[in-house]
Amino acid sequence: MEGEKGHIVLFPFMAQGHIIPFLALASKFTQKGYQITFINTPLNIKKLKSSSSSSSKNPSIHFLEIPFNSTEHNLPPDAEITDSLPYNLALKLLQVSPSLESNFRNILTNLVNLKIGFFKKPPICVVSDFFFGWSAKVTHEFGILHSIFVGAGGFGLACYYSMWINLPHKHTDNLEFILPDFQEAGKFHVTQLSPSLAIADGNDEYSVFQMKNLPLWKNSDGVLFNTVEEFDNSGLMYFRRKLCIPVWAIGPILYQENDTKTPRKESGIPLVKCKEWLDNKDEKSVLYICFGSQNTISPSQMMQLAKALDGVEVNFIWVIRPPLGFDVNADFKPEEWLPEGFIERNQENEQRGLVVVNWAPQVEILAHESIGSFLSNCGWNSVLESLINGVPLIGWPMAADQFFNAKFLVEEIGVCVEMARGTTFDVSYGDVIKKIELVMDSESEKGKRLRGKACEVKEMIKDATRDEADYKGSSIRAMDEFFNLMMKERIGSQ
Ligand SMILES: *[C@@H]1O[C@H](CO)[C@@H](O)[C@H](O)[C@H]1NC(C)=O
Ligand SMILES: *[C@@H]1O[C@H](CO)[C@@H](O)[C@H](O)[C@H]1NC(C)=O
Repeated sequence: MEGEKGHIVLFPFMAQGHIIPFLALASKFTQKGYQITFINTPLNIKKLKSSSSSSSKNPSIHFLEIPFNSTEHNLPPDAEITDSLPYNLALKLLQVSPSLESNFRNILTNLVNLKIGFFKKPPICVVSDFFFGWSAKVTHEFGILHSIFVGAGGFGLACYYSMWINLPHKHTDNLEFILPDFQEAGKFHVTQLSPSLAIADGNDEYSVFQMKNLPLWKNSDGVLFNTVEEFDNSGLMYFRRKLCIPVWAIGPILYQENDTKTPRKESGIPLVKCKEWLDNKDEKSVLYICFGSQNTISPSQMMQLAKALDGVEVNFIWVIRPPLGFDVNADFKPEEWLPEGFIERNQENEQRGLVVVNWAPQVEILAHESIGSFLSNCGWNSVLESLINGVPLIGWPMAADQFFNAKFLVEEIGVCVEMARGTTFDVSYGDVIKKIELVMDSESEKGKRLRGKACEVKEMIKDATRDEADYKGSSIRAMDEFFNLMMKERIGSQ
């Protein structure tokens, strides 16, 4: 029966990009027979409960509010999730998050004594966000196992961790530098730093938070990564030697909602229409373009990309949003932001391109045999969705770990060509055409190599997730090891 094996507490940071991977993990754990108490601040919990997502209907997941009042921390009322906040307030929310500690302790006290919550068993493990380094110590006060869950890739997060604790770019005048404790990652260029890292000097608020938080990871009993050991080993090894605790690669764990089949808002495209369009295209002939749900490009970059698509002979699906400087929720204005007649020319006459505003069923698109390549911001979820299907990438990283993910895909596993970096990068359509042709041309040597590699990685992922009586892949074994440790701790404590 579901939930029989035990009760696990999940506690992500208050950001969409953290909550969603934790929901995917929650669903995975319930499939394995565990019950989940999913903790977050009141507004986020209300939203999660009232959503039509499958997790809100899963009887083995109980959503629990941890008290938090944003106005008491000089934040605007109802400021509980970073996505809707400007940068300085998002940082502020991160900075005040350790103040959740005493309420978190109260919650654990009550869960352990079965005073609150939904399940008739005390929790046997807390899995928290990597921003909540403080939560390990609190959890251990109750003799409960603590693990961190990272929704990002091993290599990307190792770069991120090392950058923040070493700030290597501050110790050189060169534009290129290496990471002192992760030299095997090779050279980095200053253009691969997110704005907050680029300005970090050890005394700014972000650095102060990171330098306090990151070393606390050592207090945890292990780290779960949403990745695969076989292709992401160097980053995982970094954490093993840095933290001296178990590091388990249990991915890919993807968030798949059944109701994503209906487009959000009025825009977007229904799956049926998208599939019909793709069915009429040749195998590997379509370039899929999407910069993730949080990113967009500058107006001039958008114009250059559109000109390139006009000039290059490939099919494409472009998920488009208003460019930087405009309200992302505003109507899309093709007459302002795209070359004249772009949509009609590509969509209606030749049917060569499909421009989709805001949202498309990405999981299903990437799984279609007509897709030849994915022009992506290299957010980790997108990367996994591409690699599962053996689709090579064209990288255009824009934030945080995306720069490191792109570097990883290009240099470490060879499934990607980098096209641009960030939103101030000077993009020219001629160059964009060259990069697209390099990857999409069925005859080019480079393209063949990328596709070959992507196919190898797809097989690695398939193998890692094989769960048969006589054969278990690496991700299945890692998850079993995590559960075994959890069970052993519980027996030991009784
Ligand atoms: C999603 O739909 C499939 C089939 O349509 C079903 O088997 C599966 O249980 C559903 N998943 C969730 C999480 O509701
Ligand atoms: C949050 O705190 C402010 C000031 O102390 C108070 O006015 C407000 O009612 C509180 N909000 C909630 C939801 O408790």
